[in-house]
Order: sequence, then C-alpha cells, then structure tokens
Amino acid sequence: MTTGPVGVGIIGAGNISDEYLTNLTSYPDVTVIGIADIDLARAAAQADKYGLDFSGSPGELLALQTVELIVNLTIPAVHAEVSLAAVRAGKHVWAEKPIALDRESARQLLDEATSAGVVVGNAPDTVLGSGIQNSHRLIGEGKIGTPQTVLTLMQGPGPDSWHPRPQFLFARGAGPLFDIGPYYFTTLTMLLGEIESVQALGHRAYEEREIGSGPDAGTRFPVEIWTHMSVLTRFASGVVGTSIYSFDSPVRRQLFEVTGSGGTLTVPVSGFDGPSSFLAAAADEGDWVDLPAQGRERSRGVGVLEMARATRSGRSPRASGELAFHVLDAMLAVEESIEAGSPVLVTSSLTGVAPLDAEWDPQERTL
Ligand SMILES: NC(=O)c1ccc[n+]([C@@H]2O[C@H](COP(=O)([O-])OP(=O)(O)OC[C@H]3O[C@@H](n4cnc5c(N)ncnc54)[C@H](O)[C@@H]3O)[C@@H](O)[C@H]2O)c1
Repeated sequence: MTTGPVGVGIIGAGNISDEYLTNLTSYPDVTVIGIADIDLARAAAQADKYGLDFSGSPGELLALQTVELIVNLTIPAVHAEVSLAAVRAGKHVWAEKPIALDRESARQLLDEATSAGVVVGNAPDTVLGSGIQNSHRLIGEGKIGTPQTVLTLMQGPGPDSWHPRPQFLFARGAGPLFDIGPYYFTTLTMLLGEIESVQALGHRAYEEREIGSGPDAGTRFPVEIWTHMSVLTRFASGVVGTSIYSFDSPVRRQLFEVTGSGGTLTVPVSGFDGPSSFLAAAADEGDWVDLPAQGRERSRGVGVLEMARATRSGRSPRASGELAFHVLDAMLAVEESIEAGSPVLVTSSLTGVAPLDAEWDPQERTL
C-alpha cells in the first residue's frame, strides 16, 4: 500500500487557486506536484509563485505518475469533463462545486470512477470547517432534540455591481441556486440527511443587468436564470425546510436555523470557523447562547485533505461524490419544480456521514 503524503495536481489556475495553493502547500499530508490550465502562462505563473516543480497542459499533468489526486478548479461548465478526464487517467479527483450541471454527466463520472477504482469528492468545503462540523456534532448529540424544521435565507443584490465579468453568474450553471446554493444544500443534507422532495417558485426582478465595475462597466447583459427562488424542502426524516436564494434584494442576509423539539441552533453556513448559537425551546429570545467552534482553524483545501486521508485508509471521503450528486439532484429538482408548478421528487439516495472530530487537525502529519 502507498504511504506518505498524497501527490496532488491542480487543474485550473484562476482566482481561487491562490487560496488552495496557499493552504495545500502547508498541509504535511499532501504534496502539490504541479498545476495545469488551458492558459499555460497562468499555470506557469502560479507554479512559479508557489515553487511547484511542474506546470503545463491538463493532459501533461494527468500523465505524471506522481500525481494521485487531481484538484479541479475550473469553471462549472467544464467541471464534469475535466473530472472525467482525471478519472480516465486513473486519478482520484476533488472538484469545486457543482459536480456537474446535469445528472447524466455526474452519474457517468461516478460510475466510471467506481469502475476505475478511484474516488470522487466534491463540495464547497466550508461544510468541513470547524463551524459547520460543530453544528453537525451538536445536532448529533441531541442538543436541539429531534430536528423538525429548518429555515435558510441567502439574499443580496447579486454580484453584477462588483464583478468585472458577471455575465456567467447570471447564466445557466450559476445564479443564486447553482453558485451559492451548493453551500446551503450540502450543509442541509450533511446535517439533516436525504432530501425527499422540493417545491419552488422562481422570480426574476430584471431581464437585463449592468456591469458595475471594470473596463466594461455600464454594459448591459441578459439575465438567463431565476434570480429569486422560494424553496420548500421535505427531508426523508420528516424535517421540513423553507429557503430563499436571491440576488434580487438590497438586503444582505445569510441565515441558517435548525429547530428541533429542544430548541433552535444557528449554523455558520458562510464561512469555515464561525460559532453556532443555541436558543432552548423554553427560553426567552434574549437567552441565545454562543457555542464556539473548537479545534484548529480550517480553510479552503480541507476537503482535498480529508479526501486524501480517507482514500489512503480505504474509506469514503465525507464530502463524497454521492453527496454532491444528491445536492445536484435537489438543485435541478428546484428548477424543474419552478417550471412544472408542482413538487418534484428527489430520487437519489444518501448515506449519512459522521462529523469530524473537533481535534481533526489539517496541520498534523498522519500519512
Ligand atoms: N473565486 C472564488 O471566490 C470561488 C470561491 C469558491 C468556489 N469557487 C469555485 O472555484 C471554481 C473556479 O473559480 P475561479 O473563480 O478560480 O474561476 P476563474 O475563472 O478565475 O478560473 C478558472 C480557470 O480554469 C481554467 N479553465 C477553464 N476551462 C478549463 C479546461 N477545460 N481545462 C483546464 N483549465 C480550464 C481557466 O483558464 C481559468 O484559469 C469555480 O467552480 C467556482 O465556483 C470560486
């Protein structure tokens, strides 16, 4: 059996690669071997900046024997094809969310990975941060009794005001549902289990938006997707959820509250290490208690690390391909419910995962 740090190669040298490279190069359990991009100069610049041995094309990176695990940081439209190429080269693959834009290509990816004996992991890895994992443990320990309902709100004016090229964020594969929704849906399913059905209404405040910054400021572009969705969710456990995903509100608000027979817990859905807060069922509104996250600070890259450790020991990663498939299935069901005007069943299944220990430490050498 192979031992020692897992050899990692990154495909996609864009915006988010700095955060991954900073963190992954600090973890003793992984070794970043190289980076690839269709833009070779961009990959070369990142390799130079982080002292990596290799930069080049995706095909060249996939040919390296020392690379065991690919981290796919490309744009959502090509997540599935880049991940599939990695699987076909015999590599484990961790991809940024979403796993794919349709069920068929996600299923093909997972099936081919199983046949090839490699592992797929995918999530916004904030779900493995000490904040959400703290909430996960508290719910598992019965802090709120039996979970009954969940309320989530993700509202804001949308990214067109600050992003210099926001068109793709208002096109298929993005919007509040596909760009931000994975943070919420992955947390919902990790904490509360399988989603059974969704019912949703969609709204679009503006048919066109305007680029608000950069050289193209003032240019108008079409809005292709729903920019406000009201979603009702029923979980297999009987839990009922109400959620808003919106780029149509001047009010910036992020909220994630699970209520059970014993009280309400807030979940720090938007970052890695925030506190949960608890209000007991019989308490007054002023009696909220902060329950800080414990353990070492975590940040982007912990999903890759948890997966690297898991694959070495032959178990599934917590942010598994199965979880990502269920999240995609539920998000597509939201779109389908809006079109149909009726509830849509979510048919994929999900196996629950245990939370990480509070002591789980990215900086520890375990391999
Ligand atoms: N930027 C953020 O703050 C942020 C935060 C969380 C998650 N993410 C996710 O990370 C991913 C990447 O986001 P980003 O902001 O870095 O995007 P980006 O556009 O800055 O970078 C994407 C890179 O992928 C490369 N690429 C595109 N197609 C490719 C292909 N077929 N093969 C190889 N390389 C290819 C592009 O050349 C580019 O360098 C997205 O899935 C996004 O949702 C980004």
